Amino acid sequence: IIKSVILSGGSGTRLWPASRESYPKQLLPLTGERSLLQETGLRLKDFGAREVDPRPLVVTNEEYRFIIAEQLRQIGVRSPQIVLEPFGRNTAPALTLAALAAQEEGDPILLVMPADHVITDVAAFQRSIADGSAFAADGALVTFGIVPDRPETGYGYIRSGDALAEGRLGRALLEFVEKPDRDTAQRYVDSGEYFWNSGIFMMKASVWMRAIRRFSPDIASACEAAYAGRKPDADFIRLEQGAFERCPSDSIDYAVMERLADAPELGTGVVVPMAAGWSDVGAWDALWAVSEKDAAGNAGRGQVLFEDCRNTLVHSGSRLVAAVGCDDMVVVETPDAVMVAHKDHTQDVKKVVARLKAEG
Ligand code: GDD
Ligand code: MG
Repeated sequence: IIKSVILSGGSGTRLWPASRESYPKQLLPLTGERSLLQETGLRLKDFGAREVDPRPLVVTNEEYRFIIAEQLRQIGVRSPQIVLEPFGRNTAPALTLAALAAQEEGDPILLVMPADHVITDVAAFQRSIADGSAFAADGALVTFGIVPDRPETGYGYIRSGDALAEGRLGRALLEFVEKPDRDTAQRYVDSGEYFWNSGIFMMKASVWMRAIRRFSPDIASACEAAYAGRKPDADFIRLEQGAFERCPSDSIDYAVMERLADAPELGTGVVVPMAAGWSDVGAWDALWAVSEKDAAGNAGRGQVLFEDCRNTLVHSGSRLVAAVGCDDMVVVETPDAVMVAHKDHTQDVKKVVARLKAEG
């Protein structure tokens, strides 16, 4: 049985002003009617009766609990388990909590999904997952690799070896480097030997627990204590706050994936290529890239009017927005803030958020 785990505690500042700390990007409908979290849930539900448990385990910040429960209800997810973190400690503790909760039902394979990705080819996604689950069942730690097309520094890079079994996509994971600097990323892309880490992982719950106990015993013990002192409350699992407070903050990638190659006794690392129209929509230019566009390359959401525009994204939350003679622009309208940016500068939106924070 495969248990899906949705990590949904991050805040996504580069998609300001649509994404806010109080209402982060995974809860927004960015590409269609549904939020990215809902798309994630539906992508998993689509597996049908096969072998994915239709009840996902969602790990998130306490602050988002009602929105998340409501959004899951809207897509017909019955009785999800929602683990509530009193504060974010990054993804390694979040996954550890999920593994502990999943182990109540034996030792399922976890399919770990970020809640804030777009995947346009669900059939290709499911093929890669099916392949990954075979390796995970054998005790491997599986990641899913995307062929890179630019030296993005916000991703993990994976160097892989030969295919591990005939007729399967999985390859040996030889090296994992999280968020390299620009020059290193460029070298990796030029070499043609590296994948991007998609941020999707698969492994048995026990395999993750063994790895985190080995590499970050402090995270393991803090999460074990926080989970042991939990208070179930309907679909929510509330942690013992004092214990979780002592938990160090670290990501799956730094805490475990980067060190995996040094500890072969923990099980093999496997990377399964995934060509499924993946994007982590980190910034507005990435959202434009995955959006449906008209013949001139314009993408609009909400009440939008384009006049003589090219390759422009307009995202309207409430009011009518008309763009005239715009090339390569991004316009985002919300009730209390409007952002206008050149498409090549959308990474810098986080600077605006930092200034707003500093200036109160
Ligand atoms: N529950 C919980 N708690 N979820 C969290 C937390 C937390 O403290 N922090 C982040 N998340 C969620 C985010 O909402 C997101 O869905 C997912 O975990 C990944 O976290 P990010 O913060 O977005 O990670 P990243 O983008 O910097 O890097 C990861 O993803 C890249 C691909 O998008 C890494 O895995 C990279 O190696 C990878 O390339
Ligand atoms: Mg991310």
